[in-house]
Amino acid sequence: MNNQNIESVLQEARKFEPSAEFIEKSNFKSLQEYQDLRERSLEEPEKFWADLAQSQLHWFKQWEKVLDWQPPIAKWFVGGKLNISYNCLDRHLHSWRKNKAAIIWEGEPGDSRVITYAQLHREVCQFANALKQLGASKGDRIAIYMPMIPEAAIAMLACARIGAAHTVIFGGFSREAIKDRLNDAQVKIVVTADGGYRKDKVVPLKPQVDLALSDNGAPSVEKVLVVQRSNSPTEMVEGRDYWWHELRKSVSSECQAQEMDSEDMLFILYTSGTTGTPKGVVHTTGGYNLYSHMTTKWVFDLQETDVYWCTADVGWITGHSYIVYGPLSNGATTVMYEGVTRASNPGCIWDVIEKYGVTIFYTAPTAIRAWLKMGEEHPNSRNLTSLRLLGTVGEPINPEAWIWYHRVIGGERCPIVDTWWQTETGGIMIAPIPSVIPTKPGSCTQPLPGIQAEIVDLDGNGLLANQGGYLTIKYPWPGMMRTVYGNPERFRKSYWEHIQPKDGQYFYFAGDGAREDEDGYFWVMGRVDDVINVAGHRLGTMEIESALVSHPAVAEAAVVGKADSLKGEDIFAFITLESSYSPSDKLAESLKQHVVEEIGAIARPGEIRFTDALPKTRSGKIMRRLLRGLASGGEIVGDTSTLEDRNVLDQLRESI
Ligand code: WT7
Repeated sequence: MNNQNIESVLQEARKFEPSAEFIEKSNFKSLQEYQDLRERSLEEPEKFWADLAQSQLHWFKQWEKVLDWQPPIAKWFVGGKLNISYNCLDRHLHSWRKNKAAIIWEGEPGDSRVITYAQLHREVCQFANALKQLGASKGDRIAIYMPMIPEAAIAMLACARIGAAHTVIFGGFSREAIKDRLNDAQVKIVVTADGGYRKDKVVPLKPQVDLALSDNGAPSVEKVLVVQRSNSPTEMVEGRDYWWHELRKSVSSECQAQEMDSEDMLFILYTSGTTGTPKGVVHTTGGYNLYSHMTTKWVFDLQETDVYWCTADVGWITGHSYIVYGPLSNGATTVMYEGVTRASNPGCIWDVIEKYGVTIFYTAPTAIRAWLKMGEEHPNSRNLTSLRLLGTVGEPINPEAWIWYHRVIGGERCPIVDTWWQTETGGIMIAPIPSVIPTKPGSCTQPLPGIQAEIVDLDGNGLLANQGGYLTIKYPWPGMMRTVYGNPERFRKSYWEHIQPKDGQYFYFAGDGAREDEDGYFWVMGRVDDVINVAGHRLGTMEIESALVSHPAVAEAAVVGKADSLKGEDIFAFITLESSYSPSDKLAESLKQHVVEEIGAIARPGEIRFTDALPKTRSGKIMRRLLRGLASGGEIVGDTSTLEDRNVLDQLRESI
């Protein structure tokens, strides 16, 4: 098992209880109330979800069947009609929420916008009409490759409004990663911006789209809609590329939300797996709307007056569910920030909290570790007393980071919700309900109502307390992914075949090892497959390997994760070279740069090690387990008898 790597000096066995003040103002005031809910969810799951769907969402037409479960295919609220953009916008316009801030946006250079629900509705309608004018209609796929500006959320909601599925491509990806996604999803329209701001520099985006589309790279793409953000010089292709600020002059600000079937596709989001190219995770309308809505309300104890801020990028599922859909469906105020912590402005995060009086703050352990290193004088010199709840997501959190977050950011009064979930699950699966579940640093605590999570062995048998095993979900939930876009077989293979209960049941498994302690608290230990988690970003080792071998100098590449005190894991690549090349620092540097150009900066290897040969089994499989051990500088554990050539190992060991 790919055990979590961050070395922990601090041992922390305390349990942290929410304060009386927090409980008093919360949605769940007693453990009993919560336990009743949870029990009901296990006894009558369909009724449980149906009641919530009824009371929490607006439906144009009621469903006929709550759940149709033909493993591994689940359909929720079958026959129901709704539109998530209606639930996020229109229904709030009938109350005083109309003039409530929906999005508070802060740009990196210091510009800002506050957009009310009424204004957001108007913008989304206009954007939807612009997309229609470019030929979009229900069922089309539209890619969104944007910086963190309100138009990213507006474009998502506009797609949802007209029934086109969006596929958001993280703004840090580059040409090959973009091209793969455009082709896999057969995208018709790309929404992008001229550029965005990142660490005080303008990062061009439109030119990356141009590269992806060059040489007929993505023939399905007909139009490109460009938002002006950075005023960068931009080449526009006649008949293909359009400026949003030009188009909007001529479009109506009314656009009725399309009635969508509950199971109509809402979006595709690509994520890395063990093998092959990234998988297009498909989420549908009704189940996803309900699940992102409920989990936002439960886990963040969302209240009408909260100012809620999730620091993720909309390019990841966290941004989809917890910047855009979950908060807006609840009628909350959601903060969007274009910037990141940078040397020139080490206190920018705390400034945003102070400026807007943020009450709920949701971020990643990697970011917390970076802030910890920068020193507490930055948060300490700002007023953070508006905060009442903190959250983390994306990777396990080490006790040092947890305690620092609790003490320095939370002033020892804010509960911390450690939320475990995945792109595939649509929303948070295991996390505390902050007012009733005490927390333990490093544990995501307990499954949410309606979620039947268990740690099992490969036969699906439950394990004893504290025994490590596979983290599975044993019953469908509304937010679950429906399929891998265009590849139902891959869906079945990737998620439903690892665990094989003897009685033929289907358990969902997406790659994490975990244990459950004697109090029923879950401790996620990390991936058990060839997926690595770099700074909370999920990367397939194979994707990075294919980028490396596409460089003319590289014969073979093997990529593994290496423990890193800041990023959790870093990328370590072993390379064998074509005979006409020889190892050098310069070559290592250009291989790193090559990966950045192919995939993006998040995939840049931290270390490249040249070797004459890679350790392989007699059948030619690279023995990654050995490489992982070598990369981490540890001893090689386990059996090496299947190794084809033992000398390879000795050589590698010497080189490290
Ligand atoms: C993988 C999913 C879910 C949004 C962000 C990442 C790891 C996620 C936690 C947590 C330990 C976590 C898992 C998971 N992960 N949250 N609270 N504690 N590990 O989404 O890119 O789909 O990655 O992130 O390994 O499988 P993703």
